[in-house]
Amino acid sequence: MKLSGKKELIEIILNDIKKRGGISFKDFMDYALYYPSLGYYTSDKEKIGGYGDFFTSSELDPVFGQLLSKQFNEIYLNYFKGQKIKLVEIGSGKGILAFDVLNEIKSNYPEFYENLEFISVEKSPFHIENQKKILDSFNVRWLENIEDLEEVEGIIYSNELFDALPVHLIKKKNGRIYEVYLNEVDGEIIEDFREAGENILNYLKELKIDIPEGMTTEVNLIAKDLIQKIGQNLKKGFVFTVDYGYPSKELYKPYRMKGTLLCYYKHTYNENFYENIGLQDITSHVNFSALVYYGKKVGLEFTGFTDQAHFLINLGLGDVMIKLQEKGDSKSFERINRLKTLILPKGMGEKFKVLVQHKNITNPTLSGLKLLPPQNDRYKIEDF
Ligand SMILES: C[S@@+](CC[C@H](N)C(=O)[O-])C[C@H]1O[C@@H](n2cnc3c(N)ncnc32)[C@H](O)[C@@H]1O
Repeated sequence: MKLSGKKELIEIILNDIKKRGGISFKDFMDYALYYPSLGYYTSDKEKIGGYGDFFTSSELDPVFGQLLSKQFNEIYLNYFKGQKIKLVEIGSGKGILAFDVLNEIKSNYPEFYENLEFISVEKSPFHIENQKKILDSFNVRWLENIEDLEEVEGIIYSNELFDALPVHLIKKKNGRIYEVYLNEVDGEIIEDFREAGENILNYLKELKIDIPEGMTTEVNLIAKDLIQKIGQNLKKGFVFTVDYGYPSKELYKPYRMKGTLLCYYKHTYNENFYENIGLQDITSHVNFSALVYYGKKVGLEFTGFTDQAHFLINLGLGDVMIKLQEKGDSKSFERINRLKTLILPKGMGEKFKVLVQHKNITNPTLSGLKLLPPQNDRYKIEDF
């Protein structure tokens, strides 16, 4: 197999494979997505939206950010009223969601806005430059590294951050767990299976994950570190994680024998991870059980787990649609169609989940979690 994509980046990857006698798939994914200036997210390529490779909910319509802000304002009123509150978005990408959230709070919740400090934590310098342009009318502080985030009393949220983190790729063969490495043999790149390290085995053991024989799947150790970092920094408040994925019980079902790793390129998806390197997105489903388990270890309590459809409808998406219907003009009908996309079952409505965790708040109730989806394997997080 030959690697294809950005030549300069491929050279760097091949040199490292030679130097180290092979690199893990996780290191390969890290190069492909985040190598300075050349990786998919760190380069100046248009990624999100019509001219890019995929849409996010925030790109589709401002209502996603508006309803999220409604939930955040409820938190401000119930748990922080009259106090300073921090709102932190991690992995804000182009900054569209941050814009919708800040715009809504400034326009409709002035008291909340008055007490608010907004921090954007974004690893890609290119995306920070984008954000600086579209968020210039708001007071925003930028951090490139989560390590620089101080203590937070308030809300930390992300949308499609955890699915974009480099993952270890593992396979179960003859009852043993192996990790996928990339190696070079006679000028060809091959996948090499090596005994999985303690960090991966411990993760599987701690989460009581026993994958079926023959399954290839992902282990997201960066997600584990990130949720723990978030939990350590949060002193009081909430964490909202919006992303696609499942609890462990669903994620490792036998009908996902090849795992969930996918590439997105110009609004189509493929499983050719070693092509278009640096030019296409590589993502995997989030293991929400892991976020709950490792969050608990640093004091994050489980508030609730739902899907985007239930979350947005609980927060009043139906009323927004009725008002548009009453307006009755063609623009309003176009918008109704976009809003439907956000809540369609089998589409964004069910695919995207919302996990809420809290710290130092007693028995919180949130409007977004009022009515929950059926508590089957797709939604039921184990009691750890
Ligand atoms: C799929 S995009 C998110 C899109 C955006 N949240 C939206 O709603 O349109 C993922 C973003 O997370 C950023 N990212 C990845 N790892 C990160 C980390 N450890 N800290 C901060 N940002 C990170 C990437 O650079 C990228 O901008």
